[in-house]
Amino acid sequence: MSSRVHSNDKSTETAMSFSFGFSSNDFSDDELAESTSVAALGDASANGAANGQLGSALDDVQLVDDISIVQPAQHSLESLLRGLQGVRLSFETVASPETGTVLYRRELFDIKHQLMSSEGDKELDIIVNEDLKRNVYEGGLKSWECSLDLVDLLSARRTDLAAVSKVIEIGCGTALPTEYVFREYLLSNRKNGLTLVLTDYNFTVLQLASLPNMILTWAKETLDRDQWAMLQRSEDPTVPVMDNELLLTADLLQRFRESLAERHVTLDFVSGSWGRKFTDIVHSLLPQCEGTTAASLVLTSETIYQPENLPLITETLLDLKGYIGGPTTVLVAAKDIYFGVGGSVLDFEKRLDGLNVQYNTTKIQSGLKRSIVTI
Ligand SMILES: C[S@@+](CC[C@H](N)C(=O)[O-])C[C@H]1O[C@@H](n2cnc3c(N)ncnc32)[C@H](O)[C@@H]1O
Repeated sequence: MSSRVHSNDKSTETAMSFSFGFSSNDFSDDELAESTSVAALGDASANGAANGQLGSALDDVQLVDDISIVQPAQHSLESLLRGLQGVRLSFETVASPETGTVLYRRELFDIKHQLMSSEGDKELDIIVNEDLKRNVYEGGLKSWECSLDLVDLLSARRTDLAAVSKVIEIGCGTALPTEYVFREYLLSNRKNGLTLVLTDYNFTVLQLASLPNMILTWAKETLDRDQWAMLQRSEDPTVPVMDNELLLTADLLQRFRESLAERHVTLDFVSGSWGRKFTDIVHSLLPQCEGTTAASLVLTSETIYQPENLPLITETLLDLKGYIGGPTTVLVAAKDIYFGVGGSVLDFEKRLDGLNVQYNTTKIQSGLKRSIVTI
């Protein structure tokens, strides 16, 4: 992994080595083979992003008022849990390539099964049958490659996480980076407080993938074998208890709520498109703390692929960095080039340069080049 540091007109280079070795089989529930994912992304023009004043993209009237775009909305933990009670989650482990960090993830087939059993509308059909459709479904049910790069980076800086009290993941999908921070908090037995804000274009993704992954992490990391069985058998002592399935009984979900409260963890969710309404909602979930030393992380992976949305995602990230009090780090993981779509890390860097923003870019050496930009 090599890293370029940009301080406007200054630039330095440092180098570290990492070896990444994804095989296509490692990603059965992840983005499909490159050709598929790129084709699925590909209805955008290859046009680069235009420079502009910070804030202008957030207020872009066309974007904000386009009724075909999903409007932002906040969802409480309670409202999401309601749709999960009684659901049996099938899950698997996923390991990050560099540090081998093991995380739990609901299986994609299980999510699709739940979707197909529910009242179908057009959006659900698309989510079940397509990898990504612009402004309808933005691909959040699968884990994209760079999300594990973020997990590796966070894992390499594990000791710094003790100071983190707020995490906002933008375009979280399966939310593996946030899941990692949550896991570390649970394992550390800290109770000093952690606010997690998970955001995704699609409500369905938040409810059926992002939140279940948090519940699985909590259950695997905090329940012993007896509790694991007892909470699933609380309504029916004969139900089968499996190692790779978790039945979300009312008692288990209640224990989850209580455990979050005991540990001072809050979980909030925002669906819909980036823009001013979106950042206003996120602000309302993050009380500003003057003079705080607690650190915040704004995380995002594989969200800069669409050139048309580059101003919007850039300004969303910078708005949040500017809004949150205390030391705030923004980590943006992405493929260097999104072939067939037009987005690239270089375009993102140019946009940051145009806005006079300081950042450094860590290059991840792999077959398909990837980067993490730290702002
Ligand atoms: C390719 S998925 C990546 C998901 C996840 N971060 C990962 O790496 O596995 C892109 C994500 O960007 C988000 N996204 C894309 N366009 C968006 C938009 N206009 N407004 C809000 N979110 C958007 C969606 O939430 C979607 O889950």
